[in-house]
Amino acid sequence: MKNITRDNLSDAVKLSFAQIDNARLCHLVERLTHHLHAFAHETALTHSEWREGIAFLHRAADISSPSRSEFTLMSDVLGLSSLVDLLAARPGATEGSVLGPFHTRGSPWMESGSSLIRDNPGEAVLIRGQVTDVHGQPLADARIDFWQNADNGMYWQMDDSQPQDNLRCQIQVQADGRFELATIRPKPYLVPTDGPVGELLRVSHREAWRPAHFHIIVEAPGHCTLITEVFDQGDPWLDKDAVFGVRASLVAEYKTETDSDTASRLGLPPAYLCMDLPIRLAKED
Ligand code: BEZ
Ligand code: FE
Repeated sequence: MKNITRDNLSDAVKLSFAQIDNARLCHLVERLTHHLHAFAHETALTHSEWREGIAFLHRAADISSPSRSEFTLMSDVLGLSSLVDLLAARPGATEGSVLGPFHTRGSPWMESGSSLIRDNPGEAVLIRGQVTDVHGQPLADARIDFWQNADNGMYWQMDDSQPQDNLRCQIQVQADGRFELATIRPKPYLVPTDGPVGELLRVSHREAWRPAHFHIIVEAPGHCTLITEVFDQGDPWLDKDAVFGVRASLVAEYKTETDSDTASRLGLPPAYLCMDLPIRLAKED
């Protein structure tokens, strides 16, 4: 008979997982057990607090669906998603930031030099960039997956008034790694607060705002895929992002330009805002 006590329980649980074949998984489960038990010890966790925690997780499961993961949102507001991004940072490469729940695979392909503006109200902007390796060598085979919210702050998936695939696309960069995209200036918006994550934000007197941003996934053969966001330097919520996604290197400025060729080629007004976006990818190991 194993006499389980306060002092030997954690080791007994760890030992019970020691036969996991995959060495990395074995390590992760052992460390998770260690930190969970340490948390309960350190806080002298009570039965009612433990029950409340389990009920919180049940509420997260109940509100989750194939198109909504309350668990991912929980990871986001706890800063875990950002910590994983920061741990994965590669020297010299553009920094990563949270994927968020509104990426869907299979966005329409568009040529570099296209416009997403169509019937969207909002401030017209030009996003112009170049994808290179960390030494500045252009990556001619890079592809960019781009998505953002509309002028009312909503992504097309949340808003029946927007057409499917509004304000999202995939672009193959030009031979010199450059690309251009006309779009509208993204708006700040609120993360969903109708689930248990909203309860957590309210009880903490935390804001649910995310500063205005657009998302990109950049891929190139032989290079690490970059998942990131680019923020608007003029946004009032930059210091209070609900999901801790802002990095100084990912904040950029829209500057006014008046190049008439560019304006007519991309259907922009004579004076338009332009953001320059250098994107550097690290080599795969
Ligand atoms: C977003 O950027 O769209 C987002 C990120 C994390 C949580 C909710 C939304
Ligand atoms: Fe977003």
